[in-house]
Amino acid sequence: MLLHVPQVLGADDILTAQSLLADAPWTDGRASAGPQAREVKHNEQLAHDCEAARQIRSLVMAGLDRSPLFFSAALPKRLFTPRVNRYGGDSNHYGNHVDNAVRIVADTGQRVRTDISCTVFLNDPADYDGGELVVQDTYGTQSIKFQAGDLVLYPGASVHQVKPVTRGYRLACFFWVESLVRSDDQRRLLYDLDMNLLRLRQAHGETAETTALTGTYHNLLRMWVDT
Ligand code: NI
Repeated sequence: MLLHVPQVLGADDILTAQSLLADAPWTDGRASAGPQAREVKHNEQLAHDCEAARQIRSLVMAGLDRSPLFFSAALPKRLFTPRVNRYGGDSNHYGNHVDNAVRIVADTGQRVRTDISCTVFLNDPADYDGGELVVQDTYGTQSIKFQAGDLVLYPGASVHQVKPVTRGYRLACFFWVESLVRSDDQRRLLYDLDMNLLRLRQAHGETAETTALTGTYHNLLRMWVDT
């Protein structure tokens, strides 16, 4: 499932992130890529432990905590600590690749299975040309370029790339989620059920049917969950 989650970051968060990034210490992005990805990766990342990375990470984590849509779609169990990257100048693209299946969290050594890949855009499409995230999803190829503060979530198993940025810089925060529900198909069913229950409640309030279907949601989750 590929999903657009609008406004994970608010306008103030974005201004803070952009001013932190104005003179941030960028490093070669290849340091954190696997052998195949390293061959096609040409971008820059913030050092994991610098002040800008730390502050942007906490803004993003707080934004995720406020987002019921992200929670419903991802059903997060563990998160790989968000990182910040940029594309532009001589380091302006990332060719087709699949993300490593397992990432190690730097601070804790904990393993995270990368069921879901996420990008939070930190500047607007008007600030740069190119830089589309192109994802080969179950339902065909999708080309993504969202407003600052918006998040895209897509299956970790999909082949994807970031097209060359030909003007300006593309700033983003990225991370992976190990989900409570490993299967993308099962997560999609749960998400669809949850969203339609929400709409039913908005239209008709709580009814015997919404109560029963909420039971179905939780019973499916209980069947599939891996705590
Ligand atoms: Ni990737």
